[in-house]
Amino acid sequence: MPANIIDGKAVAREMEEQMRAEVESLVSSGTRPGLAVVLVGDDPASKVYVGMKQKACERLGIKSIEYKLPADTSEEDVLSIVCDLNGRKDVHGILVQLPLPKHINSKKVLLMINPAKDVDGFHPLNIGNLFVDESPLPPCTPAGVMELIHRTGIDLSGKHAVVLGRSNIVGKPVSIMLLKEDATVTICHSRTVDLADICRTADVLVAAVGRPEMVKGDWIKPGAVVIDVGVNRLEDGKLVGDVEFDAAAERAAAITPVPGGVGPMTIAMLMKNTITAAKRGTGFEDIIENICAQA
Ligand code: GUN
Repeated sequence: MPANIIDGKAVAREMEEQMRAEVESLVSSGTRPGLAVVLVGDDPASKVYVGMKQKACERLGIKSIEYKLPADTSEEDVLSIVCDLNGRKDVHGILVQLPLPKHINSKKVLLMINPAKDVDGFHPLNIGNLFVDESPLPPCTPAGVMELIHRTGIDLSGKHAVVLGRSNIVGKPVSIMLLKEDATVTICHSRTVDLADICRTADVLVAAVGRPEMVKGDWIKPGAVVIDVGVNRLEDGKLVGDVEFDAAAERAAAITPVPGGVGPMTIAMLMKNTITAAKRGTGFEDIIENICAQA
């Protein structure tokens, strides 16, 4: 039987409905959530993502503050902007779009963001929280992946979850989230031997490698849940995921399309984190003053 196609766009829309009401209620109690996005350079994909984030803010009534900086902006200037944003009362979330130009040390920039405003969930403190506990600000794409998995109704306990990719943004955090729900997790990467055979044992397969249609249809275990995080543009302009969609859909119980699967969920989770940050208040003011004074 062909798979159930998981409509990430519809789930994201449904979440937005609820979030719009939450923003309205925050505004009526005196706080409009604010998200600052810092984009350095002209990477076309980054520009598209930043535009989508701004549009989502508009739809929800979240204040959007944008810094579009030239590619030769110094590291010092980026750090100084982050420090200003850390101190602004009208900014509850700060997102520095990655990748940054090579002359800027991304780790240094991410460390400078007030963890209470780290709506990407990339600060080591928030990543640490994710490992030992629940993070109040989980990374957006992994959180979106988990929401879509939950909506299939699968009970993850004792299931074999295979994650393709070990990035800090997706592979590593989503593995921890799956483990927390008692899945048995295998993380595969470019050096993994017998990748196809491992995938064939996956009850849940999360593909996040950024290689067009690398996962073949016959790698899918019949009845599996397949979540495709990849967004790859082919030479003819077509967007495809990391999974051969049509062939995989013949075997899977449920599968996300590309586009319209995980992508819209990442944006929805970013909005959710911004609202959470606005509700919690900024915090860590004393620590941040110290970090910024030393910079
Ligand atoms: N570049 C690609 N994905 C992301 C993301 O989720 N957050 C940021 N800040 N940059 C990205």
